[in-house]
Amino acid sequence: MLHVEALRVAYGKITALDGVSLEVGERELVAVIGANGAGKSSLLSALMGLVEPRGGRISFSGRDVTRLPSWARVRLGIALVPEGGRVFPDLSVERNLQLGGFALRRREAIRENLELVYALFPVLRERLRQRAGTLSGGERQMLAIGRALMASPKLLLVDEVSMGLMPKLIPEILGTFVRLREERGMGVLLAEQNAKEALQVVDRGYVLKNGRIALEGTAAELRENAEVKAAYLGL
Ligand SMILES: Nc1ncnc2c1ncn2[C@@H]1O[C@H](COP(=O)(O)OP(=O)(O)OP(=O)(O)O)[C@@H](O)[C@H]1O
Ligand SMILES: [Mg+2]
Repeated sequence: MLHVEALRVAYGKITALDGVSLEVGERELVAVIGANGAGKSSLLSALMGLVEPRGGRISFSGRDVTRLPSWARVRLGIALVPEGGRVFPDLSVERNLQLGGFALRRREAIRENLELVYALFPVLRERLRQRAGTLSGGERQMLAIGRALMASPKLLLVDEVSMGLMPKLIPEILGTFVRLREERGMGVLLAEQNAKEALQVVDRGYVLKNGRIALEGTAAELRENAEVKAAYLGL
């Protein structure tokens, strides 16, 4: 579904991605594991069309989307859950969700997606009128995921959703991506520093190091890899 070839991203003289190639298949859960500054957010931003790559190619469902604006990528079925559960803090929970569905032309689709989001995260229904900025960290991550789901994505890009969550909540939140794959056939690309939790739920993974793919393999292979164990699993 997603093919990325030799992607390069730089900010002035700072190279963030130095020729990254990866793939996500239909209904596949894939992790990009990397430390602070490895280039995870730069990768997801480039895939979403928020930063312009200096080189390389991104194709989605057989179409070259490398130069497409973000809103057009949303229409094609790509959505981003931004780092830190970024939402519009001054708007209500409900308004944030509605904005996530802006690209949908069908009214019923908006209503169906709202029901899907409330089924996944019942707490959001209880807080519809609450200002998003006053949600707890975990609730805000749920809202950020919910907002991305409002766009009916085929591919969900998720930037460090486990960051700042209490440990007990992490498997629960990551488990929702497994459900979305089973129930909705979505593919998910999870950028995570938390390799331990991410490698429990994904099918495959890539290790991103200084803007390059240092390693790739199935989740089981990566969990057993000596370098991954030492650098990311603290074993
Ligand atoms: N807007 C920017 N301007 C200049 N440099 C940037 C910008 N955004 C990111 N960088 C640099 O690009 C590199 C990759 O950053 P990026 O945010 O993609 O990493 P990350 O893997 O998401 O890190 P973290 O785990 O801390 O979120 C870093 O060296 C960072 O300082
Ligand atoms: Mg980041």
